[in-house]
Amino acid sequence: MPRLKAIADYFGKCSFPRHHALEDAIFTELVKCLPNFRADIFDLPEDHHASKQEFINFMRAVGREDDDLAETARSFVANERGHFISEEELVFRYAEKYLTPEQWATLEHSLHIVESEECRSPASEQSADLFA
Ligand SMILES: [Fe+2]
Repeated sequence: MPRLKAIADYFGKCSFPRHHALEDAIFTELVKCLPNFRADIFDLPEDHHASKQEFINFMRAVGREDDDLAETARSFVANERGHFISEEELVFRYAEKYLTPEQWATLEHSLHIVESEECRSPASEQSADLFA
């Protein structure tokens, strides 16, 4: 249970909202280039909403030490896996292709949102707890 608690803590501090804020900023710029991207290809804000709900379910199950925690954890992991694949294969590929250097420059400030001492390094004490 301590590992699952560490995973929930890490995602709570580093993924929501910092990580999503940067991705959403990239997505906003992408939709300026491709206005139908959200409807026709992938709806990142909706997927973030679904991911957040999966995380909340997982976090609450960990907090309660539910007997059926494994099912909730598997659902959370499966959702995250699909989310990461969609971002890597769709959002970021299209962003790399269509965003202008000026748009990337406007995103510079968003990069600082995700930079924090506790989330920057995978070798941090908190992350190390995940693999202890
Ligand atoms: Fe994301």
